[in-house]
Amino acid sequence: MSEEKQQVSRRQFLNYTLTGVGGFMAAGMLAPMLRMAVDPVLKEEKHGGLINVGLAVEDITNEPQRVDWKIDQVDGWYESQVSRSAWVFKDDNGDIQAFSPICKHLGCVVSWEGSDQYPNQFYCPCHDGRYYKDGTNVPGTPPLAPLDVYEQEVKDGMLFLGEPQLREEA
Ligand code: FES
Repeated sequence: MSEEKQQVSRRQFLNYTLTGVGGFMAAGMLAPMLRMAVDPVLKEEKHGGLINVGLAVEDITNEPQRVDWKIDQVDGWYESQVSRSAWVFKDDNGDIQAFSPICKHLGCVVSWEGSDQYPNQFYCPCHDGRYYKDGTNVPGTPPLAPLDVYEQEVKDGMLFLGEPQLREEA
């Protein structure tokens, strides 16, 4: 009698084990397929390599504002998210400008009107680097080149930015 009980118990144990292992293997096979099917929905909104930075064109004024966003970076098998920033404003012609905040001297981060001494300029606190509002470097300050400019596009009223591009030297 007790031997019968033990057999039933062993059978149940085998059932649970096989069900568990089978379920685990099935999940392992289905997960990549599910990921492939859903992946395009999960990716951030891109347009021709440019990324929606979450700023509506109607919110862009003549005053430079800092915009921050993240991009996916793939390095071999390693995927990570990298932060990007830009100073965005409309120039006197109403054209949108998007400058990289990376100082062209030694790579510190510049701020719009970062110094009370130099209003209406971009200022780098590391070595008193300065740039005019159009991004060109102020002669006689450490930076020897203008701020980089982001590739840009407007779609559905939103600003999309790509890679920062070098400009001609001032
Ligand atoms: S890093 Fe900006 S002035 Fe030196």
